[in-house]
Amino acid sequence: MSTEIYYFSGTGNSLYVARELQKRIPDSTLIPIVSLLQKDVIQTNGKSVGIVFPVHALTIPIAVKKFLKKTDMRSAEYIFAIATREGTFFRGFEKMEIILKKKNKRLDSHFILNMCMNDPRGKQYKSSTEADISKLEAVVQKRLDSIQRVIVNKEISKEEDSDYFIDFPYNRLFNYLLEKLVLLGMTVSEYIGGVNYFCSDSKCTGCGVCEKVCLSQKIKMIDKKPVWQKKVLCYMCYACVNYCPAQSVQINSIPFVKSYTRQNGRYSHPYATVKDIAGQKWI
Ligand SMILES: Cc1cc2nc3c(=O)[nH]c(=O)nc-3n(C[C@H](O)[C@H](O)[C@H](O)COP(=O)(O)O)c2cc1C
Repeated sequence: MSTEIYYFSGTGNSLYVARELQKRIPDSTLIPIVSLLQKDVIQTNGKSVGIVFPVHALTIPIAVKKFLKKTDMRSAEYIFAIATREGTFFRGFEKMEIILKKKNKRLDSHFILNMCMNDPRGKQYKSSTEADISKLEAVVQKRLDSIQRVIVNKEISKEEDSDYFIDFPYNRLFNYLLEKLVLLGMTVSEYIGGVNYFCSDSKCTGCGVCEKVCLSQKIKMIDKKPVWQKKVLCYMCYACVNYCPAQSVQINSIPFVKSYTRQNGRYSHPYATVKDIAGQKWI
């Protein structure tokens, strides 16, 4: 197998990118990251290995970090990463470089693609229209054509994030602190703040879609209601929020900060079904 494309996706944007890339790369295969995380050691087989994922809170998702740490990439002669995001700055590639360096590997190329937002917490959030999706995807399609060329030719390409690049003298320290702060924020809200980060309101019909799409298997349906088990670490993919057909799943967010998920709409990629998202748990 020559190219393996590992992916993680909460609402289908990164899945769309991974699929579109696979169409462009001969002898390539798609592998869901979540399906491998129960293993003690994950072994790659591809000579080229790619990782496609969303930006979460300015950095790489928890599941991707876990994957990188567990994975033996000895087979990989070339490693690339593609992050999808709404549009903030992102310094997670440096984090990936640090993890890979410990395995005597390096990130040969990395890319960022802007796509629709799937986090409906803020007051400003507007769910994306078909026109928004088409506009962004026209750009994504063009970018994927050039990304494909870089990958197939195994070129080194570490394009700077021109919109958001900050030449900061203590980049590593800044990234480290940022990541710790974000994780702390999540932990505080869920475990110390006493509020459940997620909840379902009276619109819940007990259909169980949230349990199906929950990538961390944190949700268990008990008496036809979702229960987010405190002992299971959430991957923060927000699939439960975005795929609930009744829009009944709400985010309480961090203590004292108002969340607008009750009034805001939801987003999932038009081609990503519940089955596609849930299917990441099994190969
Ligand atoms: C918990 C969470 C945090 C996010 N943080 C950021 C962020 O810091 N910057 C950004 O540009 N987008 C952020 N997003 C938006 C996603 O990165 C973006 O919508 C991505 O394309 C979703 O991909 P997916 O559908 O494959 O999960 C966040 C989304 C979630 C759910």
